[in-house]
Amino acid sequence: MKKIVIFLSLLYYAFGVSTVSKSFRQHSDPIISYCTRLTVKPTELEEKITNDTINNDNWFVMLGAPEVLQLGKNFIQLIGAKKALDIGTYTGASAAAWATAMPSDGKVLSMDVSHASLDSIGKPLINQYSDIEKKIDFRLGPALETLDNLINNGESGKWDFCFIDADKVNYKNYYIKCVQLLRSGGVIMVDNALWGGSVVRDQWQSLDTRIIAETNEYISQDNSTNSALINVGDGLHLAFKK
Ligand SMILES: C[S@@+](CC[C@H](N)C(=O)[O-])C[C@H]1O[C@@H](n2cnc3c(N)ncnc32)[C@H](O)[C@@H]1O
Ligand SMILES: *[C@@H]1O[C@H](CO)[C@@H](O)[C@H](O)[C@H]1NC(C)=O
Ligand SMILES: *[C@@H]1O[C@H](CO)[C@@H](O)[C@H](O)[C@H]1NC(C)=O
Repeated sequence: MKKIVIFLSLLYYAFGVSTVSKSFRQHSDPIISYCTRLTVKPTELEEKITNDTINNDNWFVMLGAPEVLQLGKNFIQLIGAKKALDIGTYTGASAAAWATAMPSDGKVLSMDVSHASLDSIGKPLINQYSDIEKKIDFRLGPALETLDNLINNGESGKWDFCFIDADKVNYKNYYIKCVQLLRSGGVIMVDNALWGGSVVRDQWQSLDTRIIAETNEYISQDNSTNSALINVGDGLHLAFKK
């Protein structure tokens, strides 16, 4: 049963014509390409990471949508963020984006349970740009442990920006920890919040879909933030800490 759900979800995600889509997917709507073309302005490093990931990694669909990364960079500059949490490193595209948007004393803490894709694709590129490289701390291990360690070390209320993009089963936990770690006025971006549109299907919901939907409801009820759930990339739930 579980396998069938995963198979149908993958099929839908790979071939379905969807109004929810990352701009680099072939089936994405022309409107999405239009919006992306006009507003996404990646640096040379960011473009290299995107290209190398799409060309060399089988799991490239996990790559942060360039339009989502651009929006995050804009928020970082708007609020003057200097401390960012990046939950789910993969090839380092989102970490590099946040570091790019920050001043030279900015810090990105990027978390992942594996550094395989980072070491083969992202790291050799990032290492060529020392101004970006010095801002990023790539931390290996389960993100929940890293976040709990920060909370136990008195880091609550000291972070400006959180990007949640790791394992979906922990999404609600990540959101709760991020709210705690963020200062007032800080911004959380929860990626894949529409999960290919599956959050509004009432059948064939995978565990990931159910947890993403539950997290969206939780954020909507949470009095400690204002939020906006928007159809950009694979869906993005923005939360602004009061
Ligand atoms: C969607 S990718 C991240 C994409 C990246 N943010 C970007 O913009 O390209 C999700 C990543 O989460 C990682 N991951 C899975 N479970 C995790 C966990 N418990 N803690 C931290 N990272 C985890 C995976 O190894 C994978 O690299
Ligand atoms: C990335 O790929 C695009 C499309 O193939 C190409 O136009 C662009 O020059 C590439 N950028 C870099 C930095 O390699
Ligand atoms: C959030 O605010 C609403 C309306 O003021 C209130 O009814 C609700 O109990 C609050 N929820 C929490 C968790 O504080």
